[in-house]
Amino acid sequence: MALKEVLIDELRDMYSAENQLVKALPKLAKGAKDPALKTLFTSHLDETKEQVNRLKQVFEILEEKPTGEHCNGMEGVIEEGADALEKDEEGASFDSGIIGAALRTEHYEIAGYTATIAIAKVLGLSDVAALLNENLKEEQSASNKILTVGQTILEEASGEPETEKGPKSSKEKSSAKKSKEDEKKAAPDLKKRSA
Ligand SMILES: [Fe+2]
Ligand SMILES: [Fe+2]
Repeated sequence: MALKEVLIDELRDMYSAENQLVKALPKLAKGAKDPALKTLFTSHLDETKEQVNRLKQVFEILEEKPTGEHCNGMEGVIEEGADALEKDEEGASFDSGIIGAALRTEHYEIAGYTATIAIAKVLGLSDVAALLNENLKEEQSASNKILTVGQTILEEASGEPETEKGPKSSKEKSSAKKSKEDEKKAAPDLKKRSA
């Protein structure tokens, strides 16, 4: 059945995404300056390991292998997080950059689980949908906790003085160049009105 193949592909993507996060979350926990933010990442790492197990159970139900797809989307989101960890900012301003990166990972996962739960339900796979829903609930709760802890950090950061900007790294220069290219490519379409 075609839709079942779509589901399996998307679940393999999620399995890769979760495995990538098992490696990335300790880096965020190590990099974060705020103790509450550190604790949050560490406890979400434990949850993430359990989520990998739930996905394995899903694949057992489906009698399929969990591997086979690499999630490029999560790789990109994690890469953005790595950029935030390289910033010269200090204290709460530094953590403020990590908050955005962490929220992106959670919302990427929320989108993935929302889509796969909808497909599983249409296919009548209620046991699969129930397992995926447990993961979804944890992602939603993680996102809420990041926002709650984040609020205090953002307020603290708003009182910090501006730091002196150092010279741009080659990575930052290349990113700035690509951003100009994005703008240039979009320009002709921005002038057109949609029909
Ligand atoms: Fe997850
Ligand atoms: Fe997550």
